Amino acid sequence: MTQRWIARIGLTLCAAAFTWQASAQDFPVKPITMVMPYAPGGPGDVITRVFAGAMQKTLGQQIVVDNPAGASGSIGSARVARSRPDGYTLLMIHVSHATNQAMYKSLPYHPVDDFEPIGRATSGPMLVAARNGFPAKNLNEFVAYAKANAPKISLAHAGVGSASHLCGLMLMNALGVKFNEIPYKGTGPALNDLLGGQVDLLCDQTSGTVPSVKAGKIQAYAAAGRARIPSLPDMPAIAEAGVQGMDINISFGLYAPKGTPKPVLDKLSASLQAAVVDPEVRARLDSMGISAVPVELARPDALRAHLKSEIDTLGGLLTKAGIKPE
Ligand code: MLT
Repeated sequence: MTQRWIARIGLTLCAAAFTWQASAQDFPVKPITMVMPYAPGGPGDVITRVFAGAMQKTLGQQIVVDNPAGASGSIGSARVARSRPDGYTLLMIHVSHATNQAMYKSLPYHPVDDFEPIGRATSGPMLVAARNGFPAKNLNEFVAYAKANAPKISLAHAGVGSASHLCGLMLMNALGVKFNEIPYKGTGPALNDLLGGQVDLLCDQTSGTVPSVKAGKIQAYAAAGRARIPSLPDMPAIAEAGVQGMDINISFGLYAPKGTPKPVLDKLSASLQAAVVDPEVRARLDSMGISAVPVELARPDALRAHLKSEIDTLGGLLTKAGIKPE
């Protein structure tokens, strides 16, 4: 190969790197897609739309939310993993980013190696809800009825490894029972069926359930943890009925594909940090019983550490429950 050819290739590569860096500096110059891999109307969708709205303000470009739902969020996550690492396709996801690795034998991506963490966004409790007319008026009656009739009781969730599934699993483990599980593509459609009386139980985050409880459209027996939920102060925590081993809190985080340039990641993380301290965002989340994380957690290292701890702890919970990877 002649000297001239080598010089030409070198120049081309430099030009490409320069363009790449230049485009990273100018980011964003077109609309961004934020993928939420669960069905519209659910907690994930609501939270993603709140952050898309806030981050548009600081990034100065439209952010479009896309909901390719299914397989506990792995379909949408795979789409982001294989998308161009230029900052224009992002993933908002929660605990299932950690559990999917334990749940699917041939997951077409690696939750750590194929993504760049941008930062954590929210943290929120879960609760145990039932359809109106479910034959229990309070937590103690619910525990007694569930233990006596479990196989007849249907439990909705958003797929194996999802937040609502993990919460349901913890509830079944804590009560020593097995409900009849009904999977959905998200808790948005699951809540609709609970409102319609088609299913009996749903363990869900608070964004959809709290307004329905307050409107008397569904019943809620307990917060799925040790503490009560501030927006439902009269509802006990499940530990108050002597039910041990249930303590779940759901945190959403934002990711980009592996290889996204650092200047782009820095801009996205700075925009996320602005969003978590934005009074409108905090008020909106508050009204749904969810918290924006403290600003120091809306950073890559905090999300990286959080994902690692979830992978280390939750994979074990699923395996202990005898759930085999699909
Ligand atoms: C949703 O957004 O539908 C939920 O976060 C799904 C789940 O329960 O994990």
